[in-house]
Amino acid sequence: MAKLIFPEGFLWGAATAAYQIEGATLSDGRGESIWDRFSHTPGNILNEENGDVACDHYRLYRQDVKNMADIGLNAYRFSISWPRIFPQGSGKPNLKGLDFYRRLIEELHKYKIKPSVTLYHWDLPQALEDKGGWRSRDTAKYFNQYAAFLFENLDLPVDRWITLNEPWVFAFIAHAMGVHAPGMNDFSAALQVAHNMLLGHGLAVSSFRDIKRKDEGIGITLDLKPVHPASENKADLAQAARTDGFMNRWFLDPIFRGSYPQDMVEIYARSFELPRAEEEDAAIIAEPIDFLGINNYTRTIVRAGSSEDDFMGNPLNPQEAEYTEMGWEVYPRGIYELLTRVHRDYGPLPLYITENGAAFDDELNSDGTINDKRRINYLQGYLAEAWNAIQEGVPLKGYFVWTLMDNFEWSFGYSKKFGLIYVDYTSQKRYFKDSAYWYRDVISRNGLEV
Ligand code: FCB
Repeated sequence: MAKLIFPEGFLWGAATAAYQIEGATLSDGRGESIWDRFSHTPGNILNEENGDVACDHYRLYRQDVKNMADIGLNAYRFSISWPRIFPQGSGKPNLKGLDFYRRLIEELHKYKIKPSVTLYHWDLPQALEDKGGWRSRDTAKYFNQYAAFLFENLDLPVDRWITLNEPWVFAFIAHAMGVHAPGMNDFSAALQVAHNMLLGHGLAVSSFRDIKRKDEGIGITLDLKPVHPASENKADLAQAARTDGFMNRWFLDPIFRGSYPQDMVEIYARSFELPRAEEEDAAIIAEPIDFLGINNYTRTIVRAGSSEDDFMGNPLNPQEAEYTEMGWEVYPRGIYELLTRVHRDYGPLPLYITENGAAFDDELNSDGTINDKRRINYLQGYLAEAWNAIQEGVPLKGYFVWTLMDNFEWSFGYSKKFGLIYVDYTSQKRYFKDSAYWYRDVISRNGLEV
């Protein structure tokens, strides 16, 4: 048996997002978010489910933090619900909303669990959507005001601040593919959303620098995927480069190089409106950050699409591969490929895996156990490859499993279970899956035995 030991001080965490776990959507003055509106509109969510109750974490947070401590987590990534803090998106803050996050952070500190706070995990206040949402440049300014309010008023130690979660998903899945809130199908609008989000990110980073919180860092979380060509032929290779441009470089380049990738600008310009931008935007977006958060679950294999402007390509799903309940290929080597590539092309800077995990069809046994061997294999495989990347000099500082407990998986409702902990939604009782015990052992050894 080999022992793969992680660096001292490595963060072992789990991640969640406000709308997916909190429930209590009408409590203590919270305003409406686009996810309330979207999930209450028939036809958008599997089985017409919504986040009204979710895991009732807003009330059960103490128990959830205790569960984290029992697993041995030394870090926890959660998101703040913007409409709890500013029910109308801007204007008068709702101090009761802020108080919830203070109580949560105090509870985490009790167990020496370091908070990583995501400011935006997709739940825009509906009032701002009504004024044009992220298609409007004003939303970047409102986001900055909301962020600055928290930097100034969330007066408890936060380890890491993450401005945005997965702007690619929010821009394109929600605005070009209609699958997430607010449910639009307009690619040019999605490009504008991506731009305004990046701008909001950059503005928030500069506010953070001005406010000078001690010993804390700020970064962004991107969802990145290795893109493989289906073959070595020229057309497939060119397709893989374009798909990589669409999924990865469109965000990495402006943040780390100060400009959008030229090949993609040319492709988009032929079919869509390029985002409207001001001259100063590029520099704001490229404001230096302290770390990059990476969410990774799978890879993409592409065959050449119909034209040289096709940036999606035709996906290929190898038959012999293993797939999760999401239909995502299990490809542990991908995390190694990503970490080494990001480090080589955009580094050096500290990296965190801010999400990685798998949905499987878990069953609760009558004795309260859940034997989720496939999840353990998945996590073990990805962690071993993350360890390999560290051996090659990649400064990976922490790893967050998606997710602490089963929750509202967006358009899939409650049908997809990603948790280390099983939630019985009728009783709100939590049950540790085998993977939670396995993760506890990994953390206590600071490594794997493979
Ligand atoms: C990511 C999201 C997260 C969760 C996982 C499965 O794209 O950030 O909220 O839905 O996928």
